[in-house]
Amino acid sequence: MNPESVDTALVAGASGGTGQELLPLLSSRVPIVRALTRSAAKTEHLRHAGADEVVVDNLLAPDDLSQAVTGVDVVYSAVGSGIADVRGDGPLVDGAGAQALLRAAVDAGVMAFVMESALGVGGDPASPLATVFDLAIGPVQRAKAETEAALRDAPLRHTILRPGVLTNGLRTDRVTVARPGARLWGAVSRADVARLLAAAPVTPAAADETFEVVSVPRFRDRALAVDWQLPRQETGN
Ligand SMILES: NC(=O)c1ccc[n+]([C@@H]2O[C@H](COP(=O)([O-])OP(=O)(O)OC[C@H]3O[C@@H](n4cnc5c(N)ncnc54)[C@H](OP(=O)(O)O)[C@@H]3O)[C@@H](O)[C@H]2O)c1
Repeated sequence: MNPESVDTALVAGASGGTGQELLPLLSSRVPIVRALTRSAAKTEHLRHAGADEVVVDNLLAPDDLSQAVTGVDVVYSAVGSGIADVRGDGPLVDGAGAQALLRAAVDAGVMAFVMESALGVGGDPASPLATVFDLAIGPVQRAKAETEAALRDAPLRHTILRPGVLTNGLRTDRVTVARPGARLWGAVSRADVARLLAAAPVTPAAADETFEVVSVPRFRDRALAVDWQLPRQETGN
């Protein structure tokens, strides 16, 4: 996609840690930013954070996801389960929920879908951090693996980011991305991940790719050189 061709974006998980970094980043670059939340009470907060439109729906029990995805060019999925969900035995938003969103996006003709996954998801060789994630949140990791697979099979452009431990640190723009199986471990701020999410649909090297992502440590020997672009509004003259 061209950096100028993102007119409408949907952020699922907009009220979450990563979503709150993504909304202001998109709001100055994308004409219409739509946020999805389960809670109508979050509407005003999401508008303050940069959403032009707010859709209230639950990905695990949707009323009508077409409201969220109609007219959308890019879907960003930064949804994630809470700890209570992980301990329960119900479906997880990382799996069934994200896949419902993906199906709705395909039906609506959305051009690109960007997913925030996690290090260690899938069957690629992984660092010991993946074992820690598996022990702590194995059901989430397996649910994300199913969503990743569905996304790779779906007829739209995709990018999957697998970050290490997320922090609330500042955006540094000093992020290492690497191929799946690079065995990265470490941490990265949600702000840095949000920049890569925003950039993914308009960055040529990110088309239909999956990346491991950390910023500390740097792993310079395993890093891919990616020229990250950001969406931008057409200036007109
Ligand atoms: N924490 C880590 O160290 C770490 C590491 C690697 C990857 N990750 C992954 O990174 C992603 C973002 O994490 P985060 O900590 O930034 O997010 P977060 O603060 O946990 O936010 C999760 C978001 O998911 C939304 N959500 C949950 N269930 C939903 C449902 N049924 N329908 C619609 N929306 C739903 C919530 O929205 P509402 O409450 O507004 O509905 C919320 O905005 C997650 O996928 C997480 O697994 C996390």
